[in-house]
Amino acid sequence: MPSDDLNTMLSDALPKIGAAADIEALEDIRVSLLGKAGMITLAMKGLGGLDPEARKARGAELNVLKTELTEALAARRGTLEAAALEARLAAQKIDISAPPRPEVTGAIHPISRTMEEIAAIFGAQGFAVKEGPDIEDDWTAFGALNIPVHHPARAMMDTFYLNAAFGDRRALLRPHTSSVQTRTMLSETPPIRIIVPGRTYRSDHDATHSPMFHQCEGLVIGKDITLGHLKGCLIDFLRAYFDAPGLPVRFRASYFPFTEPSMEVDIGWNRKTGEIGKGGDWLEILGSGMVHANVLANCGIDPREFQGFAFGMGIERVTMLKHGIADLRLFYESDVRWLRHYGFSPLAPAMLHEGF
Ligand code: PHE
Repeated sequence: MPSDDLNTMLSDALPKIGAAADIEALEDIRVSLLGKAGMITLAMKGLGGLDPEARKARGAELNVLKTELTEALAARRGTLEAAALEARLAAQKIDISAPPRPEVTGAIHPISRTMEEIAAIFGAQGFAVKEGPDIEDDWTAFGALNIPVHHPARAMMDTFYLNAAFGDRRALLRPHTSSVQTRTMLSETPPIRIIVPGRTYRSDHDATHSPMFHQCEGLVIGKDITLGHLKGCLIDFLRAYFDAPGLPVRFRASYFPFTEPSMEVDIGWNRKTGEIGKGGDWLEILGSGMVHANVLANCGIDPREFQGFAFGMGIERVTMLKHGIADLRLFYESDVRWLRHYGFSPLAPAMLHEGF
């Protein structure tokens, strides 16, 4: 049983706390009980004069009392605060003459938008989207792709090598998304039908080159995949992407170490006006070819049983052409005004395969 004086203190204090009219009145009560010179504080100080037995008993009582009072104070504070908020809300009238606040919506970056469009178009052709690491080893990015150690292509691509290695393979920033061809062929069995959008790196910097840029790779492997499939697939893609059903597309013999035969793909345009699909000029748009038998063999696929095609395109390039963006560096400056102008509404999904 608590001592009488403490009981009295409690039965005096609780109604006062419950009746406190506002936060200030409540704070006064708190100080009178628990402040430096408060009743509880003084009673605690008085413990020192008691003998050990009595000190222990009264100390415990005081702690219980203190807890009860602290809880009662907190409960009342909650009630008073809620009431104050209610009153404030009731007092605030809606000002219908105030001008509306503009909706602030973000925009999808043109590079992201192009990747979405590419995925939508190839997705409709049954391609799956694959990704791979930006930091690669030189075998996966070059060796497996039939580019021997001293082949000029390794220097041609101005690769960024890192001061690191994976075992006996040098680490580098991948100079093309073709490294994911290697990874996919090693880990999957045909049929394979993938696209690989992603970042790539080369030591180049001017209005049309950035040391970091984006590519989209494509790879199809099966038992009876032919150059005809390659052509049909890319013609359909280019016509859908540029929204130009009659777009002229030309396949021009070229060379890549990882494809044989290799072809550069050009589209018709007007060099003077930049108009796509009209005019007698040709514009190189992507590289492609039938996957080289050595590449298949390097990646564990029997070239006597399987064949296929691959292609790779620069995402910045097709984005600049489609939207009339002249300087590639603007893609990476994070200028919100530029993004507002060239960006896309997040509410407009890419569905470019429709109608093709
Ligand atoms: N990897 C080539 C490049 O970066 C593009 C390419 C990919 C060409 C696949 C042919 C086949 O330029």
